[in-house]
Amino acid sequence: MRILVINGPNLNFLGIREKAVYGTEDYAYLVRLLTDKAEKEGHELEIFQSNSEGEIIDRIQEAYHTKAEGLIINPGAFTHYSYAIRDALASLEIPKIEVHISNVHKREDFRHTSVTAPVCTGQIVGLGLQGYVLAMDYLTDNIFIKNG
Ligand code: DQA
Repeated sequence: MRILVINGPNLNFLGIREKAVYGTEDYAYLVRLLTDKAEKEGHELEIFQSNSEGEIIDRIQEAYHTKAEGLIINPGAFTHYSYAIRDALASLEIPKIEVHISNVHKREDFRHTSVTAPVCTGQIVGLGLQGYVLAMDYLTDNIFIKNG
């Protein structure tokens, strides 16, 4: 399966930023974790990170042309206000899982809203880096429940 993982702003600072919230493992660890898993399971994986909204939108649009079959996205703070990323996601008709490392519902009020989740298949929050692993399992298990 061809899977694309997109990480938004500040996720490259894992292991540096707010360790009590996001843990001590760094971004390279996350990339290794997912790359090893994909290799073991025989999936084609691409992992992309950007701090820029436009670059994230470009990468989502590229996923249409390159025929990605599943998307995992942690839009970082863009989750809470980027209608532009939401619109880009809405144009992809593949399973899309939104992942948040922290439990956004336990945090500040502004983090309780996700403008991107309504155009995703589902959302995993608060399970640390394991959220990405579980999202990959969902995509590769091929059990897709159609909503509405
Ligand atoms: C985050 C939660 C967001 O609110 C925050 O802005 C992030 C990371 C998470 O993975 O928990 O950058 O998406």
